[in-house]
This record gives sequence, C-alpha cells and structure tokens, in this order.
Amino acid sequence: MYILVNEGIIPKSSFSIDIEDRGYQFGDGIYEMVKVFEGVLFEWEAHLERLFRSARELRIAISMNKEELTKQIQQLIAIENLRDGYIYLQVTRGVAARVHHFPEGATSVLVAYVKEGGEVRKAELTGIHVITTEDIRWQRVDIKSLNLLGNVLAKQKAVEVGAQEAVFVRDGFVTECSSSNIFGIKDGVCYTHPANHFILNGITRQVVIRLLEKVSLELEETPMTLEALYEMDEVFITNTGQEIGPVIDIDGRKIGTGEVGEYSRKLSSEFQRLIDSVVPSKQ
Ligand SMILES: Cc1ncc(COP(=O)(O)O)c(C=O)c1O
Repeated sequence: MYILVNEGIIPKSSFSIDIEDRGYQFGDGIYEMVKVFEGVLFEWEAHLERLFRSARELRIAISMNKEELTKQIQQLIAIENLRDGYIYLQVTRGVAARVHHFPEGATSVLVAYVKEGGEVRKAELTGIHVITTEDIRWQRVDIKSLNLLGNVLAKQKAVEVGAQEAVFVRDGFVTECSSSNIFGIKDGVCYTHPANHFILNGITRQVVIRLLEKVSLELEETPMTLEALYEMDEVFITNTGQEIGPVIDIDGRKIGTGEVGEYSRKLSSEFQRLIDSVVPSKQ
C-alpha cells in the first residue's frame, strides 16, 4: 500500500508518525474525505476548495498548490489502482516541541491514503434511526478540523442506543449531526441550517441543494427548532460516505409515515444520476 506524504508517494510501511506531530498532540490539523467512483474523484474541486479554506482559517500552510495536490492525488489513485472507494487526506501544522502557540519553523505534514469500498450506498435507503443530543462543540465547526471529540461522543451515544446518527441541538435549534448535515421537508419546502460557523458546509449538502430544483422542492436555509424537526414530513441526512440517509425516527418518534419518504428517494435517484454523469462507464 502506498500513501502520499507531502510531495512524495511512498510505501506505507516506510512512514511513521512523529510523536510530536501537532495533529497527534493537539488535533491541530484539517482533513477531507473524498469519494472515488470508477477511479474518478467526485466533487473534487469543492473538497479542494474547502480544504484550502480550512487551512486559511487555521493559518496552516499547505506545501502544495491545488494543481500539484490534484496531480499527486490522481497519481496515488492510479498507483493504488483504486476503482470505487475514497481518499482520506489530512494536513497537520507539523512537528515541533510541544507548545500551544504556533511553533516557529514547523512545516505542515500532508498525508493521504486511499481505501477500497467504504460505506455502502443505498443500504441507508431502508431508513435510519437517530437521536438528538446537545451541541457541545466549539463555535468554528465550519472548519473541517481534526478536533472531533464532540462528534465522537455524540456518535457513541447514538450507537449505544442502537441509532445510526446523533443530531446536534444548540439552544433549541438543530444544527447538523455528528458526521452529517440534516434536512427536513415540510409542505414542499426543504429546510436546513444556513452554512455559518455552527455547521460544516458539507459537500454533499451543497450537491443536494443543487438537486432540490429537480424534485420541485424549495430551499429554506433557516435553523429548525427541535419541535419543528419532529413534525417534518421527511428528514434526511447527507454526507460523503452515505450520500442521502433517510431518517425514519428521531428519539423514538416517527417522522412522517415512519418510512422512507418520496422526496428522499427522488433525491437519491438524482444523486445517482449525477454520479453516472461523471463516471467513464456511463459516458
Ligand atoms: C460534522 C459533519 N457535518 C457534515 C458532514 C458532511 O460533509 P460532507 O458532505 O462534505 O461529507 C460531515 C462529514 O464528515 C461532518 O463530519
């Protein structure tokens, strides 16, 4: 197995993590996960844009420009002969003696690897169970940082009660989920939290917003109260791994009919159509 480390692709076995890497000690870094279909990166430009935005917000200098990074990632996909799967990419502030402030002279460490398979698409269309939990995270979750403890604890809480996802509620309003964005549909209007510092502006979220028109849904980027969420006709979550995950109950309360909704199905089909439009076998 090969990985990308800064500007070079090397065997994974020849790489080791420095104990003083700030990603390891502080979670001082950023990441992206990008799906690959038939060897083609899906929504790569959007992921790349978000990665560089996260880096700017944290003042981490990425050692390559966007073109160079794209070339390296494509080379890694080719070397690994990846067909369907994903790439994981992270950049930390680098290696330095442990101090909290930005250390002088440290250079960022970029690492990327690929994985075959990943979460199975469509399985989620059978509907998922979710719970709600207080959003205890910091107030810059728009940055895709390695600091994910609030997310980890929330997901664990869900898993412990047999649910698949935890919905964050901040001051009575629904923000997003532990590893996904959330949408609610009521009377032909699709609601989701605006892309501000209280949510990660998911790439899948952005794709779904573009697809709403195709299924005749209006968009309303307004935070939903928890009470409003319970009363939605349909609720679904989005992320790179699952794409669209229809929610059939929240905190044990049925959403709509308690089955996967029509809009969720239609959006999922549109999503598949979009994937088909970029993969070689469908050209
Ligand atoms: C907290 C959070 N929100 C939203 C998302 C969805 O983002 P994307 O669609 O880019 O995968 C993720 C993905 O991991 C996430 O961790």
